[in-house]
Amino acid sequence: MGAIDRFRVVGGARLAGEVSVSGAKNSALKLMAASLLAAGKTTIRNVPDIADVDIMADLLTRLGCIVVRGADLVTIDVPEVPGHRADYDLVRKMRASINVLGPLVARVGMAEVALPGGDAIGSRGLDFHIRGLESLGAKAHNEHGYVIAKAPNGLTGAEIVLDFPSVGATENLMTAAVLAKGVTTIDNAAREPDLVDLGNFLISMGAKIEGLGTPLITITGVAKMHPTDHATIADRIVTGTWAFAAAMTQGDITINGARAQDLEIPLEKLTAAGAIVTSNENSIRVRMDSRPKAIDVSTLPYPGFPTDLQPMVITLNAIATGDAIVTENVFEGRFMFVNELIRLGAQITIDGHHAAITGVEKLSSAPVVATDIRAGAGLVLAGLVSDGITFIEDGYHIDRGYPDFATQLRALGADVTREL
Ligand code: UD1
Repeated sequence: MGAIDRFRVVGGARLAGEVSVSGAKNSALKLMAASLLAAGKTTIRNVPDIADVDIMADLLTRLGCIVVRGADLVTIDVPEVPGHRADYDLVRKMRASINVLGPLVARVGMAEVALPGGDAIGSRGLDFHIRGLESLGAKAHNEHGYVIAKAPNGLTGAEIVLDFPSVGATENLMTAAVLAKGVTTIDNAAREPDLVDLGNFLISMGAKIEGLGTPLITITGVAKMHPTDHATIADRIVTGTWAFAAAMTQGDITINGARAQDLEIPLEKLTAAGAIVTSNENSIRVRMDSRPKAIDVSTLPYPGFPTDLQPMVITLNAIATGDAIVTENVFEGRFMFVNELIRLGAQITIDGHHAAITGVEKLSSAPVVATDIRAGAGLVLAGLVSDGITFIEDGYHIDRGYPDFATQLRALGADVTREL
């Protein structure tokens, strides 16, 4: 790179005002991939303006689709016979590229998808995805860094039990099973709201799915699906990031377009930290009048505390009164950013998948590096509660998940600049 790519954060501001939350990255990308299931033009609304949407658009274009982006919508015109290869250059940039695996095997009878390899938050295998597709009758093997899955005669419904409620595996298997012959059950399925959104999108395309949002999803295969028009749900992780930002800066933020029902445990934790949290159907307000109290948290699959908000809760604890333990149960490599937080003066010791944190009154600004989307956002919040100017390098990670983050922070009263 070489060029400047960082966030400049001046510490000390109290964030106050209103902010609007956009559509969920982790839903919109999956809806885009699932549009491959039907020939013709699908419209997806409330799509966030982030770099990952461009990467998925690029991938779908390479598969023969015509993808057009409007202000906050994407239309995808899917050909009768799409291509079947997701290249390594795209998969390594964005792991969600593997979400084309299920739809391609189901619709084209063949997929070649690059193996994603490790990333900054852990090893993240594909074994559940592949074993599940094999249960549905596909033949799969690895060759030259690609998983090659074939089902020339179509897929057949099966009973699948996941070892762990993996979001990506549940999505790939659900989007494969919708066109399989007969009934598929996915037991120990993921229950994330983004996955429910994907299920509802598939139903609007003609799929038959029951049990969304529960650990047992039942899919009755249909012969054909049709294009649809669907609006993405609000991003619960971006919403949660604003909620933590309000609590940490002793601020008062009203988050419009938010869904409180997707964030029950994080909002309860913020209440335990001393925040006043109120919500209605369409917004959440978080107000904090004192230094937060330390809160113990264990990350778990939904409805547990989301691993994607783990950097935010560690950062809150870093400036809280008292001691806390944060336990990471979803991704083993996710404490990498803690070393950056320690550079800012946080008192944290790591023991396996536990982080023990003793709050200090203020962090101390320093240059730090964003290692992934959520770690990056956590470090921006840390900069807000530091005593000077904090530079967060490799800011492109943050752009992948937070549209106009610096602009939105400025509107709430912070002095934050995106330097490119
Ligand atoms: C998705 C989200 C990510 C979020 C995560 C957990 C997207 C693009 N990403 O990631 O932001 O943090 O859910 O909520 O939606 N695993 C295996 N084998 C597999 C699949 C998963 O061992 O075949 C393991 C992973 O290594 C990890 C755990 O299962 O330890 C959970 O991963 P998973 O739920 O699949 O996360 P993603 O779908 O990759």
